[in-house]
Amino acid sequence: MAKRTSVHGFWSTRLAFILAAAGSAVGLGNIWRFPYIVGDNGGGAFVLVYLICVVAIGLPIMMSEIMLGRRGRRSPINTMRLLSEEESGSRYWQLVGWMGVIAGFLILSFYSVIAGASLHYTSLSIQAGFSGIDSAEATAIWERFTGSWQWMLFWHTAFLSLTVYVVGRGVQRGLERLVRLLMPMLLILLLAMVGYGIAQANFAEAFSYLFRPDFSALSANAVLIAVGQAFFTLSLGMGAIMAYGAYLPENVSIGRTAGGVVVADTFVALLAGLAIFPIVFAFEGVSPGAGPGLVFQSLPIAFGQMPGGILFGTLFFLLLVFAAWTSSISLMEPAVAWVVENMGLSRVAAAASVGGIIWFLGIGTVLSFNLWSEITFLAGTVFDNVESLADNILLPLGGLLIAIFAGWVMSRASTAEELGMGVGLGYKLWLFFIRFVAPLAVIIAFLHALGVFDG
Ligand code: PHE
Ligand code: NA
Repeated sequence: MAKRTSVHGFWSTRLAFILAAAGSAVGLGNIWRFPYIVGDNGGGAFVLVYLICVVAIGLPIMMSEIMLGRRGRRSPINTMRLLSEEESGSRYWQLVGWMGVIAGFLILSFYSVIAGASLHYTSLSIQAGFSGIDSAEATAIWERFTGSWQWMLFWHTAFLSLTVYVVGRGVQRGLERLVRLLMPMLLILLLAMVGYGIAQANFAEAFSYLFRPDFSALSANAVLIAVGQAFFTLSLGMGAIMAYGAYLPENVSIGRTAGGVVVADTFVALLAGLAIFPIVFAFEGVSPGAGPGLVFQSLPIAFGQMPGGILFGTLFFLLLVFAAWTSSISLMEPAVAWVVENMGLSRVAAAASVGGIIWFLGIGTVLSFNLWSEITFLAGTVFDNVESLADNILLPLGGLLIAIFAGWVMSRASTAEELGMGVGLGYKLWLFFIRFVAPLAVIIAFLHALGVFDG
């Protein structure tokens, strides 16, 4: 097949793509969300199910998204439409792209609010706001912040503006330099925090909480949440990685690239758990099940006590902002690339309009923590519902459709050509996982959560 080209530009090297994809993957999902949903869902057994999902569902789907993106070389919506026409003679598979854009809007609407909280915590830390605090004070600081919709809205606006700025400049130019510098720094800081955790008396307790599975603590819904987290943390199921794949040069091994991103993301999530849980267990008053405030209520206690804590705390929350930034850029890219392709807007105008819609949606999350905190239905507050609709339903559903398309609708000739790894064992394994294992696992998780397997 004659190779297509991207109107949005290309990554300059293979490393640039890996950094960008890892920048997309590593974010709030690892450091904010992973620890708190582990705490909500009882620890080790949940972690194990999550790890299995990452390997059995996440890796093959990440390879597929990169492969689809590179083959289509357009925004996910237009890539899916084009490949749908080529491979099936219909246009219906573009639906995957549309669902992804909706999921991206919903996710970014709360993602930006939480990243805004990290900005706020960065500024608190600079002002020595955590010095000598105990867990009650840490909780009070979190509640003071979330109790003020004005401050939450302010930081949400600030963070989203940063995202619009980089996306408007063009992802490659804006992103490459940023990620190259910041990812290694974040890693070093996390390692230092784990080091601090190891020095705590209860590191062993935290370790076994994370890694000793107790399956009696695992609810049917927890399985779907683990599947959802695998998608969320790896940026899969909504086209972010597909959009980045569109800018990937030919002759880059998709399998190895995806493997590197998956390993890096998983490593960071586990490190975050090992950094946070020793603190959670060391201090009376912070419980693993503290919910979305968990990172914000636990780490500051440690920063307030350790030598150099102001510097550490400031750097940590700042790097969390950067990690969130490189992820939020990828959450916005599918929609912005589509607007540029189909409505003839400039990148700047496209990013600003998409950002405006997401800013507005974000108000729902902001108010969920204060004025609307009593309004609950289905999964909980408006924020809880947005989060679980996007993460537990839309992403796995998008991933399921991507797996079916890549494994069953596309011809083997096309997938083998684009994956570029021949038709040996590697290809056969990918095909087996993408045709059977990944789709069945998602379907079983959906049915399980609906109670189909209850006796
Ligand atoms: N993977 C990101 C994180 O873990 C979140 C994300 C989800 C980014 C979906 C892009 C697409 O923080
Ligand atoms: Na992640």
